[in-house]
Amino acid sequence: MPDKKIVGFVPEDEILRQKEYIELVRVILSSRAELSSPKAFVHTYGCQGNVSDSERMKGVLSEMGYIFTDNSEEADLILFNTCAVREHAEDRVFGNVGRLKALKEKNKNLIIALCGCMVQQEEVKEKIRKSYSFVDILFGTRVFHKLPEFIYRKLSTGDKVFDITSNSDLIAENMPVHRDGSFKAWLPIMYGCDNFCSYCIVPYVRGRERSRRSEDILCEAKEIVAAGYKEITLLGQNVNSYGKGLDEEIDFSELLKKINDIEGNFIIRFMTSHPKDCSKKLIDTIASCEKVSSHLHLPVQSGNNRVLGMMNRKYTREEYLGLIAYAKAKIPDISLTSDIIVGFPGETYEEFCDTVSLVKEVGYTSLFTFIYSKRNGTKAAALPDEISHKEKTVWFKELTDAQEIIAEKRCREMRGKVYRCLCEGKARNDGEYVGRTSGNVIIEFTSDRDLTGQFCDVKVTDTLTWIVKGELCEE
Ligand code: 5AD
Ligand code: SF4
Repeated sequence: MPDKKIVGFVPEDEILRQKEYIELVRVILSSRAELSSPKAFVHTYGCQGNVSDSERMKGVLSEMGYIFTDNSEEADLILFNTCAVREHAEDRVFGNVGRLKALKEKNKNLIIALCGCMVQQEEVKEKIRKSYSFVDILFGTRVFHKLPEFIYRKLSTGDKVFDITSNSDLIAENMPVHRDGSFKAWLPIMYGCDNFCSYCIVPYVRGRERSRRSEDILCEAKEIVAAGYKEITLLGQNVNSYGKGLDEEIDFSELLKKINDIEGNFIIRFMTSHPKDCSKKLIDTIASCEKVSSHLHLPVQSGNNRVLGMMNRKYTREEYLGLIAYAKAKIPDISLTSDIIVGFPGETYEEFCDTVSLVKEVGYTSLFTFIYSKRNGTKAAALPDEISHKEKTVWFKELTDAQEIIAEKRCREMRGKVYRCLCEGKARNDGEYVGRTSGNVIIEFTSDRDLTGQFCDVKVTDTLTWIVKGELCEE
């Protein structure tokens, strides 16, 4: 039985209140000569979910009158949307925040704001408060919609605003969006995660899983298509469990079908799928929906059952391979990709070898590989971890070398075939363009016309390790 807790939404009057703050900030900014055309520098770390959140915050900033700059030196407001998934990501944020001190010294009116997963952690918030006193605004993952109020408070009182409230997991609808791309759009369908994989910080910093209402998603999808976008990527930590807790009977496959039914020339991608919730119904839906790309990103994390158990992944190697076999049978041109963690605490070399053998058996198009990173507060952080980082690096290389051979072979198999792809822009070489196939393979091809943002048919003529080269098939 689906869990029937009802998903909560930020009340409409609270959204209206935030819109009033947008207006108040706009008035303040336009009344200050030195801020006549205020510039904002927004930098996003981490996953596409963060990119999408930043687009919503940029929507708010744009309505306030900010224009966007890629140069932090000329900015009046700097916003870092942070990531906590691995220690390395956090180190980069601390380093980059440290460098902002000099900018603040040059421009006392500069507003420095940090938000997102990393600063949602109490100890990070305290470290920022103590050691990075030039940070003006800090807010977590549950209060993005209050950005207007935070900026207003800072501008009107000069006081710092720190808010990492975590006791409510509400969805905020009807906030403005400023999309970064002109032909590829992100569309969040759910937030948070309830899976508690033992290594992962996400459920702690992002809160409980909650799905947007299908009518809100469909309305946004239609707007995206009407605006001329050619690719929509549906986002969630675990899109396969979409719909749980909603006051309507719907699952991810049904949502996909509804988006597929929207008229227009566009493709649909989605991420991320969790194997435990990836049903045959979903694979059948991918097979039957012509707009859904033939690509399944299905993170396996490990190919060994003991390690999968320790990771709390709730599926076995055999179940995973069963799903893959079903997907390959139903969708012969399916392109499979995955995430893998190397060196989970207690993992032995023999267990790691099971991952390598699974990778070879599946034949992924590409992999996102990570060395395990200890995240305080997670279950895995308490486990003994005896393998040195140096040793894990050797295993990591063994895995990526194995994948390189597979990727090269898969690219070679594409030779001579024609692929419909979305042209994403100019390639490095003059006269060449970059496209992406439905299976998410990058294809470089020559064209005397700029086809950016358009679909085109390209015949693969040559292959490199990870990408292929081709020529345009003229109609
Ligand atoms: N260490 C290393 N990789 C991790 N991931 C998540 N948490 C960790 C961690 N603690 C990886 C997983 C996940 C991807 C987004 O990041 O592979 O699928
Ligand atoms: Fe993290 Fe697992 Fe949730 Fe993915 S499904 S965000 S790996 S806890």
